[in-house]
Amino acid sequence: MNNETKYSSIHYNSYLQVDKITSAQQLRSDEVGTHAHDEMLFIITHQVYELWFKQINFELRSIVKDFSARQVNEKNVGIAVARLERVIEIMKLLVQQIGVMETMTPLDFLDFRNYLFPASGFQSFQFREMEVMLGLKENRRTTYNNKPYHCVFASDKKDALEDLEKGNSLFDLVEDWLERTPFLEFGAFNFIFEYQKAVHSMLEKEKTAILDTDILSDESKQMRLIMLGDTNTYFSNIMDEKRHNALIAEGKLHLSYKATIAALFINLYRDEPILHIPFLLLSKLVEIDDHITTWRYRHAQMVMRMLGKKVGTGGSSGHEYLASTAAKHHIFADFHNVSTLLIPRSELPVLPDSFKRNLGFYFSALNT
Ligand code: HEM
Repeated sequence: MNNETKYSSIHYNSYLQVDKITSAQQLRSDEVGTHAHDEMLFIITHQVYELWFKQINFELRSIVKDFSARQVNEKNVGIAVARLERVIEIMKLLVQQIGVMETMTPLDFLDFRNYLFPASGFQSFQFREMEVMLGLKENRRTTYNNKPYHCVFASDKKDALEDLEKGNSLFDLVEDWLERTPFLEFGAFNFIFEYQKAVHSMLEKEKTAILDTDILSDESKQMRLIMLGDTNTYFSNIMDEKRHNALIAEGKLHLSYKATIAALFINLYRDEPILHIPFLLLSKLVEIDDHITTWRYRHAQMVMRMLGKKVGTGGSSGHEYLASTAAKHHIFADFHNVSTLLIPRSELPVLPDSFKRNLGFYFSALNT
């Protein structure tokens, strides 16, 4: 087979199926009512979102697949970081696109809104796939009308979402991966023991600084010492495995004790070459959570502007429901919590040289 037959010529239009895409905008106002100019923008904006959701889910699916291996290939961690970076850039666009939608005024929207009932963004299958793949669990969702979020789908889509829920999400897989971090104990060095010592010494220094200062009144000193006591309780709550598990049972935490310690270790020693990529991975997940939350807030604000106190076409309370999802539907919040546990570099337990060499890349280890 020569190259000419193998690669038959292709045209821009047929390759991208442009005709299919550009003929997929049927205005409901034309079909059942009076033509509403802004409906075209409404349809195209939603379609563009769905295309981006497709790309995001494509990236997430590939990362979930790579992280499902019993031992995650180091190379795949770097690839995951690059793909999550892509997802983040797309998510920035998703937030920006709300501005395009908002060029339609509430009055323009009323020209065709009635024709849309009972369709709603609540029925976006790909949006749900994205949430589930990232790790949003059914029991952590705000619901409306006391019905599960997937009740709006036909049975095949509902089954697909239930299957996806049964499998491992990115949250679950990263948690497993963190739990397998091999560095938490190395010879005589026990990270958690050394870390607790460092926290204790840091808090003692802060206590001495409060007591010794001439600037604060006795009353203010007392208040600061109480606050310092709270910090201490926070550190010890998180550091005690039993208490950590109790907080998980209460639904206040979600990331396992072991994975939290590993995430803390990676954050504290991220300057060590071997921990740099794992640190980037955790940062990207937090960033994704931030962007989805920003989108949820922006979308809720837009809905407030468009609808005021009106209920949604899907039957929810509209803005109120959406604002509660923005406040509640965080997926990687426990990775944010790790920031509370960070201590200054100056207080970090010094890693033994032999350990440091193990954390360096082969080349740098040879040259130190
Ligand atoms: C005029 C513009 C829009 C209005 C007034 C609006 C309104 C609403 C309302 C009221 C809901 C809550 C469910 C319901 O009762 O219907 C909702 C949910 C949703 N909308 Fe929109 N929306 C708009 C644009 C968009 C766009 C451009 C997208 C992009 C895909 C979108 C995606 C979603 C999604 C994914 C949900 C489900 C959110 C969740 O349950 O967490 N919406 N929308």
